[in-house]
Amino acid sequence: MRTLVITGGTQGIGKALTLHYLGRGDRVIAVGSNHIKGETLLAEADRLSAGDRCSFLLADLSSPTMTIRLAERLRTGYPSIDALVFGAFRYQTKRQETAEGIERTFALYVLSRYLLAEELCTALERAPHPVIVNLCGTGSKAGRLHWDDLQLRRRYRPFVATMQGARANDLLGVAFTDEHPDSPIRYMLYNPLFVNTGLAEPFSQPTRTAVSLIAKMFATPVDKAIEPIVDRIDTPPDSALSAFQVRRTIAVTGSAFDLNAARRLASTLRNLIIKSIEA
Ligand SMILES: NC(=O)c1ccc[n+]([C@@H]2O[C@H](COP(=O)([O-])OP(=O)(O)OC[C@H]3O[C@@H](n4cnc5c(N)ncnc54)[C@H](OP(=O)(O)O)[C@@H]3O)[C@@H](O)[C@H]2O)c1
Repeated sequence: MRTLVITGGTQGIGKALTLHYLGRGDRVIAVGSNHIKGETLLAEADRLSAGDRCSFLLADLSSPTMTIRLAERLRTGYPSIDALVFGAFRYQTKRQETAEGIERTFALYVLSRYLLAEELCTALERAPHPVIVNLCGTGSKAGRLHWDDLQLRRRYRPFVATMQGARANDLLGVAFTDEHPDSPIRYMLYNPLFVNTGLAEPFSQPTRTAVSLIAKMFATPVDKAIEPIVDRIDTPPDSALSAFQVRRTIAVTGSAFDLNAARRLASTLRNLIIKSIEA
């Protein structure tokens, strides 16, 4: 029985992966910030007779403090972790800051992923074929890091924040393999493209209905979208870092995967984490 930790495991792609692996007899720990979604998941796991292998951990991953506490609970409860899947995400239609003063998209989409990978590295390395799957926007050319204003204080636009996060996640993969050169962990960046999930949730009406309809008409159904992800988790690539847009391999070279930029980002994140803990 393998152990998978899936952030955002209560909805969308994360939930579909959770139910898939529970159905296969594995143990899944799903993380989310809404306890009702967590309880719904646990009820579904019970119906699959998998309640004893499914856990829900409540954590707001946009908070570095809560992310560190979550990692402590995970390390204590699950000393060996086979797969860590990053699926927690929320499109922030308006600029918001966390209690620690960090812009929320950056905190959730970038900082928490860096922090969890570092905090759970040792537990992952105890598994025979450990993987980190970072569900993100790899392979897209849109977006850049706004180094002089990573928190987008001067001018916040939701799409700019999301695409900055996508570019930052490419660099997180580079930073992880740079910081753990001898690790057996295979780090995969995976862009599922357009999938019919909880995409409409952050919007108010009438945009919510419109997004929901467009997703129903044009996006990939979630059960189909997880098939290539499952294949990657079950048969990890040989290389320490790899990137995919659905089944297409993305070369992890060029400016999107620049080592100096990755080191700069990792250093910035470490400083932000230290400041958050001290605050
Ligand atoms: N769907 C797409 O078309 C698409 C395209 C490209 C990339 N992706 C990537 O794929 C991943 C999954 O996307 P999805 O569309 O399946 O997501 P989704 O349906 O919107 O679900 C998001 C999940 O993240 C959790 N979450 C949100 N904020 C959180 C927080 N502060 N702390 C902890 N958990 C939080 C949500 O649970 P709570 O509400 O309980 O917090 C939910 O389980 C994301 O990383 C996304 O960037 C998706």
